[in-house]
Amino acid sequence: MGRPAPRIAPSILSADFARLADEVARVEAAGADWLHVDVMDGHFVPNLTVGPPIVEALRKVTKLPLDVHLMMTNPDAFIPEFAEAGATYLTVHVETCPHLHRTVQSIKERGVKAGVTLNPATSLETVEEILVEADLLLIMSVNPGFGGQQFIPSVLGKIARARQRIDQAGSGALLEVDGGVKVENAGRIIAAGADVLVSGSAIFCSADYGAVIGALRQAAHHTAPASGVSPAGRPARRH
Ligand code: DX5
Ligand code: ZN
Repeated sequence: MGRPAPRIAPSILSADFARLADEVARVEAAGADWLHVDVMDGHFVPNLTVGPPIVEALRKVTKLPLDVHLMMTNPDAFIPEFAEAGATYLTVHVETCPHLHRTVQSIKERGVKAGVTLNPATSLETVEEILVEADLLLIMSVNPGFGGQQFIPSVLGKIARARQRIDQAGSGALLEVDGGVKVENAGRIIAAGADVLVSGSAIFCSADYGAVIGALRQAAHHTAPASGVSPAGRPARRH
């Protein structure tokens, strides 16, 4: 038999920030497994988003695991604050961590699950030595910084190779994919080996969050575009 159904992690980057608690309640009721929180510093990526106070506020309004994606130049300096705020996963970019093993240990010492991630053009070899320590490997399928971008097709092969490396290393790390994930491509991403799908605009710019979350989860069984999932609602935005 195949692997368990993929976990779906809506990215709040595409949510209506003025109604954040409502948006979180809606995706939770719609069957989300995790909540993905994109932290951007305006330096590592050309955008600014949220910090520990928002993670702390989210922690109070949802029981969902908080999957915090740190797109920042100096994550080490903020790990204590994000851990204290209630992050479940803290994921750092290899491009920003010269002492990646130390950073991962620092996350785990605080009782938080440690994720590592890499940009589309960064080789998988950069995470090879840390795989057995990591709880999560996040493969970026867009260049980070904005929601609503197109999935980079060549990343599919990288996802498959990441799956092999995790399995060969005997690592317990979950394999997560982030960027441009939609009902139309989710089947191929799951088939390549993903355990967790992040999806922002496909969910939050739709009229029916539950339909999209359900279709993403079922995509392993329906690789053709799912019917009945309308992209209606608010238009896609670049955040
Ligand atoms: C991109 C972020 C993603 C983003 C995904 O830098 O890391 O999490 O919110 O949004 P979509 O699903 O719209 O590509
Ligand atoms: Zn992200």
